[in-house]
Amino acid sequence: MKVKIFVLSIILLISQQTGNAFGAEAKKNDPGKKVYEERCQICHGAKGDGKGLVGVMKRSEKTGRMINVEARDFTLAVFRFRSTSTGCLPVNEDFISLINKGIPRSFMPSHKDQLSMEEKKALAEYIKTFSTRWKEEEPCKSIPVKKPRWVGSRSSVEKGKKIYKEMKCWECHGDDGKGKGPKSDTIKDDWGKPIVPFDFTTGATKMGDAPENVYTAYTTGLDGTGMPSYEDSLKEDERWHLVSYTLKLMGKVK
Ligand code: HEC
Ligand code: HEC
Repeated sequence: MKVKIFVLSIILLISQQTGNAFGAEAKKNDPGKKVYEERCQICHGAKGDGKGLVGVMKRSEKTGRMINVEARDFTLAVFRFRSTSTGCLPVNEDFISLINKGIPRSFMPSHKDQLSMEEKKALAEYIKTFSTRWKEEEPCKSIPVKKPRWVGSRSSVEKGKKIYKEMKCWECHGDDGKGKGPKSDTIKDDWGKPIVPFDFTTGATKMGDAPENVYTAYTTGLDGTGMPSYEDSLKEDERWHLVSYTLKLMGKVK
């Protein structure tokens, strides 16, 4: 028995020392790798492929339906919550903001106070070692966000309501914003897995529920989810009107 435990701890020690010997290329003693192994690997996996010990989690929806929540596969390098245009890689600040806030409704915890700024930056760099996309492409610039004063006003909410109808947001999100539009039961993500449109009336948006975050979601799109970018199809003002209507559906303005 003692021998067994001894052998096990040796294996554990070796695997801790060598880390993900089969996974990403990273420099020895990379501080990002160390923090990743301690904090992120359990879900995102040693190879960054999202197959950690708890890579798949179950969540029950308000409707009683159970859905799978899967940790992101970093080897694909497709990111949903960015400040950059659709199809682009995110910038470091996007990663740091996610590390600080966590991802509501997806079980990803916040690490705002647990990690130093250096550790957060090192983590952002380490995530990039899982895909060659980071070597092949220049990251795009963040899209500037300037909230007009009228966001949330009654007339802006009305305009947003019209745009919501015209742009067929309801096909996925439903007329009432509860996520039960006609397409909602059949939509899949880019890898063929069922995906649930956001229910505006419950819970927090994943990117954050400040008007600026919602505006960013409409502008950049959530790549890989089927939720499109409206950067080209709607004018800036129109996207802000949509934000007003979203705030209304979320019960944040009258
Ligand atoms: C409890 C599990 C869990 C832990 C721990 C965790 N994550 Fe995640 N993470 C997730 C899930 C689940 C998603 C997918 C969320 C979604 O799309 O709704 C995700 C998504 C992400 C994304 C992709 C965001 C995007 O724009 O698509 C990044 C980056 C990320 N995590 C970084 C980290 C880092 C860095 C750590 C460690 C500090 C970490 N995660 C720890 C579960 C976890
Ligand atoms: C093809 C279906 C589809 C269409 C059309 C669509 N969405 Fe989405 N939307 C989704 C899916 C799926 C998600 C959830 C992604 C996730 O949970 O990661 C989502 C997420 C969202 C979110 C939450 C973002 C966050 O940070 O969590 C908002 C807000 C939203 N959509 C609003 C809209 C609006 C407004 C429109 C129309 C202009 C629209 N959507 C059109 C499928 C769609």
